[in-house]
Amino acid sequence: MPNTHAGCQTFPLPPECAEFPYISCPHGHWVDTTTFTLYALSLSIVMEPIKVYHHFKTELIDKSDRVSLVERAVHDLLMTSKLADVERESTVCWELKHSTSTAQFARVLARKRNLPIDICSVGMMLHDIYSMIHGTYKDHAHRGAPLAMDLLKDKGGFSDEELDKIYRLIYHHSDKHVWSDDPLEEFGKDVDVLDCFLYEGAFDFYLGNKPLKVFVGYLERAKRVWRELGIPQDLRFNLLNSYSEDWFGNLLAVQKAEQALYLLNMLSSESVSLSFRPPPFLILQHGRQAEFWGDKDSWTSYHGTLKSSEIECLEPALLDPCRELVAALAQVTETAPDLPYTEGDETNPEAFSEVASHLAAGTHAEARAVLFWPVVGIYELLEGDKMKKRLEELGVVAAQHEKGKKDVS
Ligand SMILES: [Fe+2]
Ligand SMILES: [Fe+2]
Repeated sequence: MPNTHAGCQTFPLPPECAEFPYISCPHGHWVDTTTFTLYALSLSIVMEPIKVYHHFKTELIDKSDRVSLVERAVHDLLMTSKLADVERESTVCWELKHSTSTAQFARVLARKRNLPIDICSVGMMLHDIYSMIHGTYKDHAHRGAPLAMDLLKDKGGFSDEELDKIYRLIYHHSDKHVWSDDPLEEFGKDVDVLDCFLYEGAFDFYLGNKPLKVFVGYLERAKRVWRELGIPQDLRFNLLNSYSEDWFGNLLAVQKAEQALYLLNMLSSESVSLSFRPPPFLILQHGRQAEFWGDKDSWTSYHGTLKSSEIECLEPALLDPCRELVAALAQVTETAPDLPYTEGDETNPEAFSEVASHLAAGTHAEARAVLFWPVVGIYELLEGDKMKKRLEELGVVAAQHEKGKKDVS
């Protein structure tokens, strides 16, 4: 405390003066009003008396602490929800975790991007409010923005301009594949992606629930945000780098389907580092015949990688057959070759039996397919409408159609 008594030159003040720091002291000195006024003014601007942290106890949250009030309200909404987990597409646990972690990531990324921290954290806390209340994600971003406005107006403390920013963040957050110039719109998408890709099940979920052309946007965002935060890149984010609507427009040549599966399974193994895992490929089965489909450019490039490198954890004796196989796959055929299954082939390992037996089971006319994503260690068993949709996304149907036209002519 400065010596506010012009006549008392000691610091700290003598005890008898300290009792009267802002008026006169027993020595008859009067307060130095200029010093006092400046001191009191600066104190009132930058400092407050120490207080106990509220730890979100409702009664301890200051009425002016608008962010904490909203955070508490969201948690109350979830903890008292009558909608059981079985009626939800996710769970109350997930909603609590995701809303909290995205709000915290928002505080970090908003600082990095010089955006308003309160607005960004409240926006992320509320971005999935429709799912929290109704348990479904269908159009939840668009439907959730007005619900968030109702809650915020009820709590108070946000200007119209701030409400508009939060609205934009929530309303657009699902359009990850759309790029805009609005920093608030982009913020909601980026933070959502940042949080979700920290969960191991992210690739399974997105591959199972998003069209590939939309998932491309998620992966691109993840790469950009990781780079922005200086986090080492995750090679799995390159999964759809070369994706296009006619991505698998090439039928890859291979003579022995089961042998190919065996070798590709080895290359896809967890013990082989991500940089040596093969590109995605599809096995399309017609009765006892199988076709291999993939992206020609990716396989050609992969062939080059294999030619010039030793693959970690792969015995040298197995490397040559792998190279031969990939060389064969990298060639593109004009017409579909006859690719017989060799039933009981001794190269079919026990560990790979699930996929192999699934394929071998298709002994009748019904076509089925298995789509392999080696870099993320996932394969999709495809049948019926799901298969039709996936083949269209990959461009396989289009290619077959073209081939059919050629055969007729
Ligand atoms: Fe969402
Ligand atoms: Fe979300």
